[in-house]
Amino acid sequence: MKRVLVATAGGDCPGLNAVIRAIVKRASQERDWEVIGSIQAFNGILWEPTEIKILDEKAVAGIHFQGGTIIETTNRGGPFAWPVKNKDGSWTTVDRSEEMIRKLMYMGVDAVINIGGDGSQRISQALYEKGLNIIGVPKTIDNDLSATDTTFGFQTAVQIATDSVDKLVTTAASHNRVQILEVMGRDAGWIALNAATAGGAEICLIPEIPYDINKVLEKINSRFVRDRGFVIIVIAEGARAVGKDMSEEKNDEVGYMNAKLSGAASRLVEELKEAGCKHSMRKTVLGHIQRGGIPIAYDRVLATQFGVHAFEMVLAGRFGEMVSYRHPHITSVPFKEAITVPNYVTLDTALMNNARGVGISFGD
Ligand code: F6P
Repeated sequence: MKRVLVATAGGDCPGLNAVIRAIVKRASQERDWEVIGSIQAFNGILWEPTEIKILDEKAVAGIHFQGGTIIETTNRGGPFAWPVKNKDGSWTTVDRSEEMIRKLMYMGVDAVINIGGDGSQRISQALYEKGLNIIGVPKTIDNDLSATDTTFGFQTAVQIATDSVDKLVTTAASHNRVQILEVMGRDAGWIALNAATAGGAEICLIPEIPYDINKVLEKINSRFVRDRGFVIIVIAEGARAVGKDMSEEKNDEVGYMNAKLSGAASRLVEELKEAGCKHSMRKTVLGHIQRGGIPIAYDRVLATQFGVHAFEMVLAGRFGEMVSYRHPHITSVPFKEAITVPNYVTLDTALMNNARGVGISFGD
């Protein structure tokens, strides 16, 4: 029997379970393959005792519409930076990658499928360079990978954000208010841009375009006549004013890989007040609601395609590559290509020009 190990790494994302299910369904059509899952990315392999889950058809039945991941995930640590506590209570990291590869060999693992974003695929590339038979499946709620047209989970997040804009419109209009919705988007403003367009927001603030607070205020004021009117602002968590840094929160989670962003909407309210905004303002931070719940049909379909393709890449021995969607094909790209160029909203992005065409201000 041959064994493929599946891991889900980084932040969770609607559709992860649909990928896992598709891998198992496709593998079950081959007589000589079994699928196992490592709990919490590669932690399950590195822990003593190891924690793995047998992923047979029974284990994955009906999970395609469940949010989260049945094998759990983590965006801390990893085989190359395993957190270890020093005697004085401080933390350090150690490289356990070779030990992990040896353990996988001992467990009879022939191939690994790592489902994760840019950080996770960097780990995949490094493990591949050390000789591991590994394949990547792209996952990012922020849609910030350029090596694939899109990833599962993103459209679900856009739908959740758009539903929230729709809800804020009626309350904003009833109270003649400025309603600010903070959405995810660390370095890339795709969720904000799509939700602002779909929801008909007046202002969209994204990490790629630092905003001028006076321009934001100008747009707000243009929407009020004798204090009557309303404004919807969609702001990405990574957005900030010209010359300012992203709003970061202190984070004491050991081995956390990114800065923890928080407070973009609160900061905008303060900046607007300082700039002289007299209108009533309220803010909503959507947070992890965008990552939870049922994936929409589009994401389930894409996730299923990714899962089937990933297993077929295992059969074909296409190690060192990540699944990629290039409309209308599901294909693959070398890890190196997958992790070098991020997918940011650029000034000439068609959707960006379209947003300006319907009068959305980016505060620039
Ligand atoms: O990178 C994806 C993302 O959803 C970011 O938009 C966000 O800043 C981050 O993950 C939050 O991750 P965590 O689960 O650690 O709060």
